[in-house]
Amino acid sequence: MGIIAKNIGKIIGEPPTRILTDINLEIKSGEFVALTGRSGSGKSSLLYLLSSIDVPSEGTIELEGHNIKKIKKKVLYRFRNEKMGFIFQFHYLIAELTALENVLLPTRKFGYEKQKKSYAADLLKQVGLENKEYRLPRQLSGGEQQRVAVARSLIMEPQYIFADEPTGSLDSINGDMVMNIIRDANEKLGTTVVLVTHDPDFAQEAKRQVHLADGKIV
Ligand SMILES: Nc1ncnc2c1ncn2[C@@H]1O[C@H](COP(=O)(O)OP(=O)(O)OP(=O)(O)O)[C@@H](O)[C@H]1O
Ligand SMILES: [Mg+2]
Repeated sequence: MGIIAKNIGKIIGEPPTRILTDINLEIKSGEFVALTGRSGSGKSSLLYLLSSIDVPSEGTIELEGHNIKKIKKKVLYRFRNEKMGFIFQFHYLIAELTALENVLLPTRKFGYEKQKKSYAADLLKQVGLENKEYRLPRQLSGGEQQRVAVARSLIMEPQYIFADEPTGSLDSINGDMVMNIIRDANEKLGTTVVLVTHDPDFAQEAKRQVHLADGKIV
């Protein structure tokens, strides 16, 4: 189980530019892996491939034993929606929805919104936003928006969390709070975590660090 990347590469843009080269990586179920490396080294790009948001130009990715290219789109979308939580580097909140509604967004598709409402409020409380549930994203600071995105990633109690610099725009207290939530998900619920971070202290917390340079694992 877990995710296995075999010889993956990614070529992007016009003119075509290679951004990832021959990546071999296995993320075992229940693992906590940190992806580190300098800006532009390919961390976000690799995270998109591992989480099946993007497809590799070369090589294969197996998700729980299945080649993702061979999984039916509908099945993959449902898996992603129910089993994977995402915290993006840029939070991608919906501007017209309140904090609470943004947290509940992943529950809408399959009609879990009502039963998840109190859990959504509880998650907002865990990230220190208990009195900002009804604010729109533009009425929140960047760090507050990021914390809404953290709550949203957890609403489905996912098997996997993919987090791209989840503490990037947070001060140390709020950064620690977010890291505690992610660590708890890994330790108490067995959630598999792939975390991109620049912060060496947070990377240390992972059980394994994978370092990228120029699109390669080093
Ligand atoms: N759409 C694109 N077209 C062309 N090049 C791209 C595109 N997206 C990313 N790149 C390039 O791919 C490389 C890896 O980008 P990526 O976003 O994965 O880096 P990163 O390690 O996440 O960096 P950061 O720490 O700054 O977020 C960079 O050199 C970037 O310029
Ligand atoms: Mg990035």
